[in-house]
Amino acid sequence: MQQKIKKAVFPVAGLGTRFLPATKAMPKEMLTIVDRPVIQLAVDEAREAGIEHFVFVTGRNKGVIEDHFDKQFELEETLRARGKTEQLKLLEAERPSAGQTSFTRQQEPLGLGHAVWCARELIGPEPFALLLPDVLIHARPGCLKQMISTYEEKGGNVIAVEEVPPDQVSNYGVVGVSEQAGSSFTINTMVEKPKPEDAPSNLIITGRYILQPEIFHHIANQDPGSGGEIQITDAMKGLMAEQPFHALKFDGTTYDCGNKIGYLMANVAYGLEREDLGDEFRTALNAMLDDV
Ligand code: UTP
Repeated sequence: MQQKIKKAVFPVAGLGTRFLPATKAMPKEMLTIVDRPVIQLAVDEAREAGIEHFVFVTGRNKGVIEDHFDKQFELEETLRARGKTEQLKLLEAERPSAGQTSFTRQQEPLGLGHAVWCARELIGPEPFALLLPDVLIHARPGCLKQMISTYEEKGGNVIAVEEVPPDQVSNYGVVGVSEQAGSSFTINTMVEKPKPEDAPSNLIITGRYILQPEIFHHIANQDPGSGGEIQITDAMKGLMAEQPFHALKFDGTTYDCGNKIGYLMANVAYGLEREDLGDEFRTALNAMLDDV
């Protein structure tokens, strides 16, 4: 029986330079997919997977994320007074309960590994989930829920992976795998942004992790890696010498909302599948495409 995964970390302290000027005063994690901020979709995925505590690693200019997950008393009272029960129910359903969120600050954006390390005291000595909110994964059940099934069966550390064309591997962290059991593999190596000819496979690391708490020691003892940042991949490589790592080739579609094309595609995909908007949106989109 594995120790239950109760906490999830959401690193949201990055500068979001690829979305300037939108992200000058607003966090990129608050960019919307139709009518939900990307961070909300990541929290929904974690909640569906049974997560009970949501830890946000924020930075300067990110206060609005904390407000988003709080109760907006005046707004809710106004909706109630105006009889807008649908909207009120929506806000109540999506809000974590009091005490289920924690916020800590990464004082400088020193890299993803460093952001995760900032959550060490809030996580303590237990395994946890890590979700990069700008990697939006459309999956049923959600990607983290699929990973938790793998974790419950195998324990250790679990990383979500997906296949990309071999000529694209140099943009990503890539895993090398040995044994396969269904859609999960044993990881035997990890390489950050390899040349295609040096890549151990075409399975890339996709923004969802289940990690054991020993990862914090490895991050703490690590020198800055590529781009002068503290990388999580380097720390995971260290931990791999001590503990098993499994890769799950999850069933779902990824939209990298950290880049503009991925973000636009996510809005189209999520808009098209909405019951209240899909048909009208499809007609409008087809007409627009016919015109160009
Ligand atoms: P990215 O590298 O995609 O985010 O990090 P970024 O640095 O904000 O984006 P660009 O490249 O400048 O446009 C993935 C996730 O890790 C967080 C980001 O907020 C994002 O959710 N992150 C990244 C941190 O919390 N701290 C960091 O130092 C770096």
